[in-house]
Amino acid sequence: MIVLDKIRKVFNQGMPNELVAVHGAALDLGSARFIVLKGPSGSGKTTLLSIVGCMTRPTSGRIILDSREISGLPERFLTKIRRETFGFIFQQFNLIRGVTALENVMVPAYPRGEKYSLLRDRAMALLELFNISRKAASRAEWLSGGEAQRVVIARALINNPSIIIADEPTAHLDTGLSHEFMEIMGRLHQEGKMIIIASHDPIVYESGLADMLVGMRDGRIESVRDLA
Ligand SMILES: Nc1ncnc2c1ncn2[C@@H]1O[C@H](COP(=O)(O)OP(=O)(O)OP(=O)(O)O)[C@@H](O)[C@H]1O
Ligand SMILES: [Mg+2]
Repeated sequence: MIVLDKIRKVFNQGMPNELVAVHGAALDLGSARFIVLKGPSGSGKTTLLSIVGCMTRPTSGRIILDSREISGLPERFLTKIRRETFGFIFQQFNLIRGVTALENVMVPAYPRGEKYSLLRDRAMALLELFNISRKAASRAEWLSGGEAQRVVIARALINNPSIIIADEPTAHLDTGLSHEFMEIMGRLHQEGKMIIIASHDPIVYESGLADMLVGMRDGRIESVRDLA
């Protein structure tokens, strides 16, 4: 369960270039929902997503995760919550170059100190699940866009997160791969994961998978449509 309480984010506060990216967003995101965040470029989608995912702290306001206020926690607690709760999928895949697909999937799990062979087996199983295990030994930069996307999804799942956060995940995918991506998200949602995607791609928000559509404009939540 995630609740946003009057979340405000100001960049460069007190400077001539001060910018309010999010103006007091208040929203109950519920649990295990499939949420699509829509809105024009610059409306604050990425900023809000990174606040929800504990990657950025709000300037003011509170985030409540499973009845616990997390906004004020010290960094090391936030890091732990981030690692155990969220899986991230970004527009730029952010795979580490020079490192194999398999190792890339394993990276987010390293801080947990699991036995290497067990972790490797889990990473391999995820690559198999997404039908990409034949590329396990390929370096990240050798993968095609669609292959890289599947590796990124596997990486997002390695710590078995309950919430998947994706920012413009289809921006670099063709139509077929975009539909495939949404199918995978639909499957993960059916398995009980919460999905939060920011996108202005109709393939994402017209997929029929979202049960909540949140519209943003100028840093404000302009509309909330509950489709459940
Ligand atoms: N680190 C930062 N420092 C200063 N301003 C920032 C920073 N990050 C974002 N902004 C500004 O905050 C506003 C919201 O940006 P954000 O990236 O959240 O928009 P968005 O809705 O994700 O846009 P897009 O659809 O283009 O990805 C923009 O005006 C942006 O320039
Ligand atoms: Mg963005």
